[in-house]
Amino acid sequence: MCGIVGYIGKKNAFPILIKGLQQLEYRGYDSAGVAIISDDNNLNIYKTKGKVSNLRDSCATKYTDGVVGIAHTRWATHGEPSERNAHPHASMSGDIALVHNGIIENYMLLKEQLIAKGYEFKSCTDTEVLVQLIDYYYQKNGHVLVKAVCRALNDVIGAYAIVVLEKSNPGHLVAARKSSPLVVGIGENNADYYFASDASPIVEYTKRVVYLDDGQIANISPGKEPEIINLNEKSIEVDIKEVDIDISKLSKDGFEHFMLKEIYDQPICMNDCMRGRLFVDDNNIANNHIVLSALNNFKDRLLRAKHIIIVACGTSWHAGLIGKMLIEKMCRIRVEVEYASEFRYSNPVIEKDDVIIAISQSGETADTLAAIQLAKEHGALVFGIVNGVGSSIARESDTGIYIHVGPEIGVASTKAFTGQVTVLLLLALALGHETGALSEQEYIETIDELSRIPAKMQEVLKQDNKIKRLSERFTFAGNFLYLGRGFNYPVAMEGALKLKEISYIHAEGYPAAEMKHGPIALVDAEMPIVFLATHHKLYEKVISNMQEVKSRNGKILAIVSESDELIKSIADEVIEIPHTIDALVPLLSVIPLQLLAYHVAVAKGLNVDMPRNLAKSVTVE
Ligand code: F6R
Repeated sequence: MCGIVGYIGKKNAFPILIKGLQQLEYRGYDSAGVAIISDDNNLNIYKTKGKVSNLRDSCATKYTDGVVGIAHTRWATHGEPSERNAHPHASMSGDIALVHNGIIENYMLLKEQLIAKGYEFKSCTDTEVLVQLIDYYYQKNGHVLVKAVCRALNDVIGAYAIVVLEKSNPGHLVAARKSSPLVVGIGENNADYYFASDASPIVEYTKRVVYLDDGQIANISPGKEPEIINLNEKSIEVDIKEVDIDISKLSKDGFEHFMLKEIYDQPICMNDCMRGRLFVDDNNIANNHIVLSALNNFKDRLLRAKHIIIVACGTSWHAGLIGKMLIEKMCRIRVEVEYASEFRYSNPVIEKDDVIIAISQSGETADTLAAIQLAKEHGALVFGIVNGVGSSIARESDTGIYIHVGPEIGVASTKAFTGQVTVLLLLALALGHETGALSEQEYIETIDELSRIPAKMQEVLKQDNKIKRLSERFTFAGNFLYLGRGFNYPVAMEGALKLKEISYIHAEGYPAAEMKHGPIALVDAEMPIVFLATHHKLYEKVISNMQEVKSRNGKILAIVSESDELIKSIADEVIEIPHTIDALVPLLSVIPLQLLAYHVAVAKGLNVDMPRNLAKSVTVE
């Protein structure tokens, strides 16, 4: 979703802004723009529909010099993707320009009020309303930008991250946030400052950052310490943090797409995720154990919980479904899994002893953030399972566990899913062991097997060429059905989501036994059906479902346990995965589905890393 970059200092801003926008491209966008104050105090704004490279190329013949500027990639919410609606937006007076992520919910009312005061609008955006509103207070109250921003934001209902510049005073930038992330990077000796929606465009220049909190406004001038105030114009202590992002993880590393690299990264990511948490003694399995500081610090509170609610969206919600099965199986605690977007408006029953587990790759998903804020109002403990270090959900949670899989750039989530499932496994094992609901034997044996999963993932990845070959057969399909049972049921839904997102083929994930209650009507010779049919206690029942499909000429692609001769004789195609225990199967069975979606999309010539209409970080509801 929209990306913000800003720079103020001594260097030429334009290349920094363009590079920063390119580093945020993964978030998804449809137009881009930049505003720079030139040395002779002209405000130059350039925008284009489409890619950041279009913007860069179209600026080649334009004047772009200047040491202060703001830039933006826009993911359309109000008004079509176009140059007119792209950011930055300037006020009617031309004195102020801003970039904005989020949604101003009361923009219609504010717009009417501003029109009544003589303001005219060029775009359909809510953002232009905000810049005019700031301009109104700026003209009215003695041209003090930070005060004008503060006044305007007090009138606003909605979500925002903004960076604002003032043509007549290029010595500072003003930034603010509510429910949409914004990071300020501090250059050496405060000589220059960088602004961005996440730290990835900043880390190349500095590791010292301030993550703005909701309701904070930063007034930033090079050569001075950062100043932060709240919406009541009171000073706030500045909390400077060190970011630790491995820049090499931001490159494709020779892979054709980020998504493929991230699929292949999964064995390493799992090791990163378990490091310092999972301890395996090869000489004596009885010494196997898990250490989770998040659990130790809140042990009483977590052990007291009679009810856990998992909130998440999309792929993270699928990981949540697996989490429910794991926690209920290993800890015997009741767990519900809710779409965060529904939970927040459903007047949910939340007791103060409840634990809310929020799962989010980005840590910035607006609905998940709102759901945990609601849970906190009810006194529940919020436990975050997050990838984005320092992200809003991580900071808003009482405690939690980072999945530590590194930045995920491909829009379709892959390594974050296996990271989330791994952390949920660690949590369920540790909690179940602590409560005594899980036997010692199951605890140590599951830990042992978990430590072998990265190597087994490598085995699954060796089937990539085979999956690529057979995916070419499936590009014709208009619909897919994915079926699984038990732990493989959420995996079926995840496989279907991956295919939809990047290949634009309609797909449904279903519990296999539900097929005959409806979806079987769709089955014909044109309909590929992906069965997750690994060995587990319902294996025979899945085979019966397969026979039902076969007798209706459906095309079966089955994900099976190694050396399954029976299914080979029934299915049209099989992909084998190594044997493992039931609870760990999703970590392996999801990989062929990720690869299948990837290769189908590539075979169709689609943009795998940035599929149409999708955003990586969904910071609006
Ligand atoms: C799917 C996908 C989305 C996200 C969802 C939640 O591939 O990426 O469905 O899982 O938008 O995002 P996070 O996990 O960042 O809260």
